[in-house]
Amino acid sequence: MTQGAASSSLPDTPLIEARGLSVSRRGRTVFGKLDIDVHAGERLFVLGPCGAGKSTLLQSLLGFVAIDAGHIRLLGRDCRREADFAPLRGPIGMLFQDSNDQLFGPTVLEDAAFGPLNQGLDPAAAQARAIEALLQVGIGDLAERPVHALSGGEQRLAALAGVLAMQPRVLLLDEPTASLDARSADHITTVLASSGLTMIVASHDDALIARLATRRLSLDAPR
Ligand SMILES: Nc1ncnc2c1ncn2[C@@H]1O[C@H](COP(=O)(O)OP(=O)(O)OP(=O)(O)O)[C@@H](O)[C@H]1O
Ligand SMILES: [Mg+2]
Repeated sequence: MTQGAASSSLPDTPLIEARGLSVSRRGRTVFGKLDIDVHAGERLFVLGPCGAGKSTLLQSLLGFVAIDAGHIRLLGRDCRREADFAPLRGPIGMLFQDSNDQLFGPTVLEDAAFGPLNQGLDPAAAQARAIEALLQVGIGDLAERPVHALSGGEQRLAALAGVLAMQPRVLLLDEPTASLDARSADHITTVLASSGLTMIVASHDDALIARLATRRLSLDAPR
């Protein structure tokens, strides 16, 4: 374990920390001066109406959206520029709201193995991790399917498998149960609950929120 990872394991050190976070898009403030602390084992739910900035917040925390002001610390490390964020996109897994932003293909299995391969695993180990993740989310039978031939819900599950295959410590999940039928949504809720992982989740899914949220943060309607 590296020193940085060891220090971030102290119980009072947040895994995700933001101070005075402000983001604007197209000249309009989405949110301003937001403070966030997420400690190990917490599941923070970000709530609010459409356009409130939930996706923007999750994306800014991992450096996908530039911030106007504030300070972000992830796993105990200060993150200011792309080179700071890039190595943490793995230990901190992000499920994007739009699965098209996430899936590369060509097949579901190859897509899920891409992250572990990128982490330096050999092809056999990466494939084993990918298969494990596909089984975990319940789509082992879709392993050989081209990603462009998936339904919206299947894409959601394939994207989540790709995130889980990297064995993250923290999950940032943007609407993880969107487009899922009740059975799949219930299964994913159970998978997430039993993972014990620290997470920040944007969601409108009342059942997911009721079962998983340990804390809630409400963003205001856009003005
Ligand atoms: N790529 C983008 N470029 C410019 N503005 C954007 C972009 N994505 C979102 N916005 C704007 O930023 C604001 C926040 O959007 P965001 O997607 O974060 O909301 P949200 O709370 O996730 O909404 P939803 O519940 O519909 O997913 C909105 O005003 C939106 O129009
Ligand atoms: Mg959103």
